[in-house]
Parts: sequence; structure tokens; C-alpha cells
Amino acid sequence: MAVQINPSILSADFARLAEEAKAVDGADWLHVDVMDNHFVPNLTLGVPVVESLARATDTPLDCHLMIEDADRWAPQYVEAGASSVTFHVEAAGAPVRLAREIRAKGARASMALKPATPIEPYEDLLPELDMLLIMTVEPGFGGQSFLDIMLPKIRRTRELIRKHGLELWLQVDGGVSASTIERCADAGADVFVAGSAVYGAQDPSEAVRALRAQAET
Ligand code: DX5
Ligand code: ZN
Repeated sequence: MAVQINPSILSADFARLAEEAKAVDGADWLHVDVMDNHFVPNLTLGVPVVESLARATDTPLDCHLMIEDADRWAPQYVEAGASSVTFHVEAAGAPVRLAREIRAKGARASMALKPATPIEPYEDLLPELDMLLIMTVEPGFGGQSFLDIMLPKIRRTRELIRKHGLELWLQVDGGVSASTIERCADAGADVFVAGSAVYGAQDPSEAVRALRAQAET
């Protein structure tokens, strides 16, 4: 299980997105939070910004869609240049069909669960996915406190991935920092999104290195 650190540009300066994207050396992916003010009570960016970002950086884009009507929109983010597209299962009418469509268009397909959404009903969907995202805060805002009560869900999901012998990556997003990343890694997460812990740091590249070192111990 290789550790991956994905800085979230939600905590970056949106007026300088291209520079901010390049300011982080050693990031595996750039995490791009798309919010529509319906699925979550916040509004960020959409397809045109993802298109521009994809041209501005060589780091692959990990698009996290916190939007309604995921079935209609997710494929457009692949076309915009995202290498991984995460939809929320709570916002998808046909998650299996959608995951297949994302893969067919050439991106990694990923599904996210809000804190109150259990993994068990979706066990049979896991082979259709390249990544599962377990939210460790209520989606919508950066800088929130990590929800410890999600650790058992991370553990149970890792067990299911093992049981089925899958290559699936297990991502955590929300409140991931120097003080919480070890607990996430210990529970079985291998892809870590960090917004404020990276872009709020004096030296974002150093923050990525430090988080990676902690997750690898
Ligand atoms: C929250 C977003 C996160 C956010 C994380 O809804 O999905 O990706 O940027 O920010 P931090 O790391 O500050 O909790
Ligand atoms: Zn996110």
C-alpha cells in the first residue's frame, strides 16, 4: 500500500490557482473540490476551471464532486482533464453505470461516502471502483475538525477490500493533519487529502513531506 498525499486547493488562493498548484512539490495528486451549493452549502468551481487547471499543472487532478446530479456531470470532469473523478453515492442515481462510464472515458472512478453513509450496502460495488473516499468531516468546508468516529468505518472498509482481494485505494478527506494522519493510516487509509494542513503551512512542500513520513511509519 503506497502512501499518497493529495493537497486540496480548497485552502489555496483561488486568484492564483496555477501558482498554488505548482507551489507543492511531491504531491501525488491535486485534490479539486467541486461544490454546487445544493449537495453542500458552499460553492467553489466548475468545469472551465478544471480545464484550465489541467493545462496549468502536470500533477494529475483528483476531482471530488460534491454536487447533485452526479450522473450527468461526472463524465464532463473527465473530459475537462481530471485523471480521477469522485462522485458521492448520495448524489448518484446509478453508481455502477456511472463508475463504468468514468472508467470508459479514461479516468479512475471513485465513490465518496458522507459521514452518515455506511459502507456495507455498497460492498458489491467495490470491484467497479478504483478508489473509495471516506469523508472524515461533513463535506462543504475546509478547516473542520477530524471526526474520530469515522475510524471504525475506515477499518471495516479496509477489511472488505482485503476480503475481496481488490487493488482499490482508500482515501480520507477532512481534518487530515499531523495530529490525525497516523490514526487514518493505522486504520487502513492510503490516500490522504489535506487542505489547511498543506496550504496553511509556511512551506506547503515541506508539509507534504512531513505528512507522508508520518503516514509511512
Ligand atoms: C471538504 C473538502 C475537503 C477539504 C479538506 O468538504 O472535501 O477536501 O478541502 O480541507 P481540510 O484538510 O482543511 O479539512
Ligand atoms: Zn474533498
